[in-house]
Amino acid sequence: MALPVKHELSVIKIGQILTRYPFAATFFENNGIPADSNKEKSLDEYFSTIDETYKEDMAISQEHFTGQLEEYITQMLSFLGDTGTKVDSLTILPGHGKTGEPENFSHLTIKKNEIISIVGPTGSGKSRLLADIEWAAQNDTPTGRSILINNEQPDQKWRYSSSEKLVAQLSQNMNFVMDLSVHEFLELHAESRMISDRKNIIMKIIDQANHLSGETFDTETPITALSGGQSRALMIADTAILSSSPIILIDEIENAGIDRKKALELLISEGKIVLIATHDPILALMGNRRIVIKNGGIEKIIENTDDERSILTEIEIMDKKIQSLRRKLRNGEHLTTID
Ligand SMILES: Nc1ncnc2c1ncn2[C@@H]1O[C@H](COP(=O)(O)OP(=O)(O)OP(=O)(O)O)[C@@H](O)[C@H]1O
Ligand SMILES: [Mg+2]
Repeated sequence: MALPVKHELSVIKIGQILTRYPFAATFFENNGIPADSNKEKSLDEYFSTIDETYKEDMAISQEHFTGQLEEYITQMLSFLGDTGTKVDSLTILPGHGKTGEPENFSHLTIKKNEIISIVGPTGSGKSRLLADIEWAAQNDTPTGRSILINNEQPDQKWRYSSSEKLVAQLSQNMNFVMDLSVHEFLELHAESRMISDRKNIIMKIIDQANHLSGETFDTETPITALSGGQSRALMIADTAILSSSPIILIDEIENAGIDRKKALELLISEGKIVLIATHDPILALMGNRRIVIKNGGIEKIIENTDDERSILTEIEIMDKKIQSLRRKLRNGEHLTTID
């Protein structure tokens, strides 16, 4: 969202103001201006139709109102962490591996709606790469890498501001310390993001989370009582739908008991850039490319081959079978066949 300009606010239609800045509805309401019935008018037009005595009674002037509205929108945008920066691409510039050898690539650019996986042995530096991205490294981490956003050095405010976070992390352990129900937790989150259509958004998140975990939870359940898989599913749905962060970093979601494919599809459907460090073949092949890490450095970046795409289809079938066996075992059944 672009910052508003006072002159422009006076001449565009009220309906357009609301489309651009949905949270402005509250401001109109608090100032006694019926925005809904005046959507087709500009503020100039609206103020020329209303009665002088009414203006005096309400202690309202166009000049004052428009100035305040501009101020309100500016503050809200900065609170929302939405200052107009759109992230279209993330670029990694090389540093060095653990023993100082330079990384063997010139640059790696990842575009939005892309999933890229990070593979490599335990301890090779996958989580370190995610941490470099989270910190928007500028040759100031142990790897010496630098990160560009939209081909430019990112604004350092991203490092320190919690409301303007560039990156959302989904790490293995989700420790909820708050004693809230699922509904209260989402309500709080939606409120802090100034979502106008809270009820629907919350429904959508719960719906998606249940879709991912397969074990439906009640919205009144305390979040601390959710299972590992359920809380993971909730965090993924919440991050995809509510988070303003354009980049999502995932460190290992393999054993969380959720539908991983659906989870990733949900994340990229919301226009995110997704990086996922994994040892799981399905997740490793889920993007079109993967980063191979060795001894702390990016050794190569490879594209999936046709063979791998057909192998992925096969392992997805195998995975479904394993999931079905898991479900039966969970339900206390005996296994008879693999179907
Ligand atoms: N280029 C580097 N230079 C110096 N230290 C590094 C480098 N890359 C990684 N490390 C360090 O090596 C250690 C292991 O890396 P990391 O935790 O990222 O491994 P990993 O691939 O995520 O392992 P796992 O698969 O077990 O999660 C960390 O302490 C990390 O900071
Ligand atoms: Mg790791």
